[in-house]
Amino acid sequence: MPTVLITGASRGIGLEFVRQYRADGWDVIATCRTPENAPELQATGAEVHGLDVTDEAALAGMGRTLAGRTIDVLINNAGIYPLKGPQGAFGAIPVEPWMEALRTNIIAPWKVAETFIGNLERADRPVLATVSSKMGSIAEASSPGSVVYRTSKTGVNMVVKGLSIELASRGVICLALHPGWVRTDMGGPNGLIDATESVTGLRAVIAGASTADSGTFRGYDGATIPW
Ligand SMILES: NC(=O)c1ccc[n+]([C@@H]2O[C@H](COP(=O)([O-])OP(=O)(O)OC[C@H]3O[C@@H](n4cnc5c(N)ncnc54)[C@H](OP(=O)(O)O)[C@@H]3O)[C@@H](O)[C@H]2O)c1
Repeated sequence: MPTVLITGASRGIGLEFVRQYRADGWDVIATCRTPENAPELQATGAEVHGLDVTDEAALAGMGRTLAGRTIDVLINNAGIYPLKGPQGAFGAIPVEPWMEALRTNIIAPWKVAETFIGNLERADRPVLATVSSKMGSIAEASSPGSVVYRTSKTGVNMVVKGLSIELASRGVICLALHPGWVRTDMGGPNGLIDATESVTGLRAVIAGASTADSGTFRGYDGATIPW
């Protein structure tokens, strides 16, 4: 059976990825910051590792732990959305939460790719999927607010494009994915779809991707999203 590694799997979209791949019989390596506080993840039977994706030493340690194992699909899912609403409005946005968003949403996906590239290279059709957001689309931006989150997702889109170029010769298919507006802790109760629908669509995009799709930005319905 193929193997998938998913970051930020304690809840929300990440946890749903774990559940669906497990249901399909995949070997699932799931990471989260505090496994002891993630009973729903533990209940899936996935192989769970504690990992803060912004912690370079922890990432390196996990790289050593997984050395020599094949990873067919790697999902950069962990993400944060600090300073939602009025706190993030133009006027007095604090710098440190912004830096934390850049560390978590932009830099960590690149470092995760660097850490596990050797595992991906062992796969026949490796896919590196990064959960971005339409909120990061410059072409589609029209409403004020959320500049902290928006810039972090715009930045990770360039990370994905950059990785697609860096890793083309190694056959790794790199995708930026928009999951829709999903009812999770981050998306809130007014989201348009639930995690089941989102992840069902995202898994179909991942399963159908070829090297020709590498470096593209796709919605959970498969549609190409303008950068
Ligand atoms: N929900 C939406 O409508 C929506 C829309 C567009 C894009 N997205 C993106 O989809 C992804 C998942 O979002 P979600 O809605 O499932 O959010 P969520 O319910 O808030 O879950 C976020 C997950 O990321 C983990 N995480 C955060 N910082 C981390 C770090 N430094 N190291 C490791 N794990 C970390 C959290 O772990 P802890 O339990 O340890 O906090 C949690 O498991 C994110 O990248 C988000 O930006 C979501």
